[in-house]
Amino acid sequence: MLKIAELQIQHQSNGCITDSRPEIRFVLQSDIQGEELEKAVISTEDWKMETTEQLNNIYTGPMRPFTDYRVCVTATGRSGEQARASACFMTGRLDQPWIGRWITDKGYIFAKGTSPAPMCFKKEFVCKTTVKHAWICCTALGIYEIYLNGKKVGKDYFAPGFTSYEDQIQYQIYDITAMLGTENSLKAIVGGGWAAGSMLHRRISHISCDRQAFLAEIYVEYTDGTRDIIKTDSTWQVSEDGPVRMAEWYDGETYDATVLDEDIVWKAADITSVRKAPKLLAQYGEPVRVIEVKTPVSVFKSSGGEWIYDFGQNFAGVIAIRVKKAKKGQTLVFRHAEILMQGELFVKSLRTAKATVTYICKEGEQTYSPHFTYMGFRYVGMRGIHPEDIEVSAYVLHANMPETGTFSCSHAGLVRLYENIRWSAKSNFVDIPTDCPQRDERLGWTGDIAVFSSTAVCMFDMSRFFDKWLLDVSAQQGKGGGFPVVIPKQGMNFTIAVSCWGDCCVLVPWAEYLARGDKRLLKRQYPTMKKYLKAAEFWCRFMSLGKEARYIWKRGFHFGDWCAPEGDMRKWMKKGKWTATAYFANSCKIVSQVAEILEKKEEAFRYRSLYHRIEKAYRKVFTDGNGKLLEEFQTGYILPLHFGMVSEEEGKNMAKNLVRLIHENGNRLSTGFPATPYILFALSDYGYLEEAYKLLLQEECPGWMYEVKTGATTIWERWDALRPDGSVNLGRLDGKEGADEKNSGMVSFNHYAYGAVGDWFYKRIIGIEAVSSGYQKFRIAPKPGGGLTEAEGSIKTPYGTIVSSWKIADKKFKLYVKVPVSTVCEVEMPDGTKYEARSGEYVFVC
Ligand code: BGC
Repeated sequence: MLKIAELQIQHQSNGCITDSRPEIRFVLQSDIQGEELEKAVISTEDWKMETTEQLNNIYTGPMRPFTDYRVCVTATGRSGEQARASACFMTGRLDQPWIGRWITDKGYIFAKGTSPAPMCFKKEFVCKTTVKHAWICCTALGIYEIYLNGKKVGKDYFAPGFTSYEDQIQYQIYDITAMLGTENSLKAIVGGGWAAGSMLHRRISHISCDRQAFLAEIYVEYTDGTRDIIKTDSTWQVSEDGPVRMAEWYDGETYDATVLDEDIVWKAADITSVRKAPKLLAQYGEPVRVIEVKTPVSVFKSSGGEWIYDFGQNFAGVIAIRVKKAKKGQTLVFRHAEILMQGELFVKSLRTAKATVTYICKEGEQTYSPHFTYMGFRYVGMRGIHPEDIEVSAYVLHANMPETGTFSCSHAGLVRLYENIRWSAKSNFVDIPTDCPQRDERLGWTGDIAVFSSTAVCMFDMSRFFDKWLLDVSAQQGKGGGFPVVIPKQGMNFTIAVSCWGDCCVLVPWAEYLARGDKRLLKRQYPTMKKYLKAAEFWCRFMSLGKEARYIWKRGFHFGDWCAPEGDMRKWMKKGKWTATAYFANSCKIVSQVAEILEKKEEAFRYRSLYHRIEKAYRKVFTDGNGKLLEEFQTGYILPLHFGMVSEEEGKNMAKNLVRLIHENGNRLSTGFPATPYILFALSDYGYLEEAYKLLLQEECPGWMYEVKTGATTIWERWDALRPDGSVNLGRLDGKEGADEKNSGMVSFNHYAYGAVGDWFYKRIIGIEAVSSGYQKFRIAPKPGGGLTEAEGSIKTPYGTIVSSWKIADKKFKLYVKVPVSTVCEVEMPDGTKYEARSGEYVFVC
């Protein structure tokens, strides 16, 4: 039977959409082998289209503000069977101007370099008669939560989310129909968050505003057809006296439960305006939510006298406590850390971040969890109460993107490594793609997601998350085509084209497009890509003489082979000209494909020729012309190999040289951020599959399995974050040991960059790889090795779930595959035999 298993409008079912034309897509399921979509009719009450596509169907019907639209799809399969489904979307304000005014407390001043005390806003209002439908539209500069009649509205954390506030701010819409009474009290608490609070280790604050501000409109529709709109204005009240005494990304939160409502001194709110004129857009990213509740696996008292809870997993989130009994004024202090050293919390790696939650109890039983901060931690150290008198658990917080990938295999270490990658992804998708969740950064470092995006899109449906972030990437692109190194830049204003980091503008949308096939994203991001390549071209030509030199990107600023196991920052950066030139070539190649898809033939041709000139220059300038680098290092081979910048013969030689370097290095890698994602591809795709597995399974440092063996539950920033001798590599930038205020180093135990190896798990171990966008055509070509006897995994694609599962028994390789409706799969067995499979389930043996 044909079935519509999922119907999405702008990548969600039954959600509110932004003010653009939404895309409609649907997933079909059928038990008829080879079934595919013949045609479909998509309609709403006053709009209709016919299509033969399951994705990229654009709604062009009427759009009225705050209106529910029911979208119906009738799909007909080749078999003649029909299926029907419907889903709703709601429009936001569209172009309707706000009548609410931004409000604040103009008298509130907080010191530069600190975060403000949360600002509370209050409004009392009456509902005249029976309410039919009511909702609130609101946003803030800062991060806010609203409470209606004492109950939290919605489930979101850190709304309105982190965007380039001078360009766009999200607003949220919450249905409050069921929460209203006759007399109502609405309270909004606005913490400093990213807009007003302190950022970076330099603690720059007031970045997007001088103090928090709030904007809201409450719509109440009555059954008698009338409507009230309650809007923010000077009739609202404001105060900083609430129980949340301090809230800070890095330092944590202080909550005083002894503060009573009647103690708060209110005054009239002031009307204010925002600095620039950002667009206010209905929430289009994934909101941050509580995704999971964790309970500690153990608790013990450290010799320093702190009760230490171990959650068994490093993650991003907040504690949630239930105090069974306490005295009024009893102060509980919770510190957070990723690791222990000699049985105590190790917090030096957090640098200036205090990551501390202080809770001042009221009398008796009570519950609490911070709402205006989060931490990256596995361990919590507690003082001020005995474990018998309290229950400590924790909320895992991250953007609510659906999980789409699974992986398991017969090697327990690899299964753990996969989990570590997954947890580092979860911990770093807190509204934007961050580098780390614990120390005084938690920033949108562009290079980290540039290399991790192709793994991320297998594991999660990143559509809405990336859609939001990429809008900021475009917005913050400099006039010359470069970018800030973190986006949104929030205090890091240095804008320049930096290879690999800047290539995020090509790599992220491309990975997303291959995974989900949304053409609109490519179209929207294409001008940004072009502008970046122009900047790269400029830098290549800058003071460069000679035919080839003009295609080598050596000037400007590069992170180079960032975080390679050997040497320090200076040494990594010296590798910039190799990494930059290779990444530039690769991006030109991708952008030529993008141009092709967007039917810009001439531009496609131009980027293709540019690509060829760069790859030739790389070989000419950096190699002996026969596949040997003049200055050899692993990354220098991996990038041209994986980016296809070599002739067949040279490729063979390069691969051989790479293998030699790895052997000379004791079968260990020596790569930083730019090449680590590709090292196993470079090996396995050039005939060195066993070498790839050996490297993957290497238990000595540096290596992925070293981290696993050492007990890591996430991916580390440095290969030797925890050294074999048990000490922490604090990564001081002056090369010395220890940490002090000035020379704070750089080591995190939760950085996903090296987790980019996850891509190889999907594409080679279980062998699933998209051939065309959205996996309409894909390959399943598993590459067994490394002593693995079985592996299994799946990816939920826009057409349905692809499964690849293999087992080796009795010298036979048995592969089970599941192919979604309307897709075509090319199966390639390890012995080279090929099959074509259309929708259905199959078993192949060799
Ligand atoms: C961040 C990174 C980032 C790097 C670039 C670090 O401090 O944590 O992951 O990409 O700086 O320099």
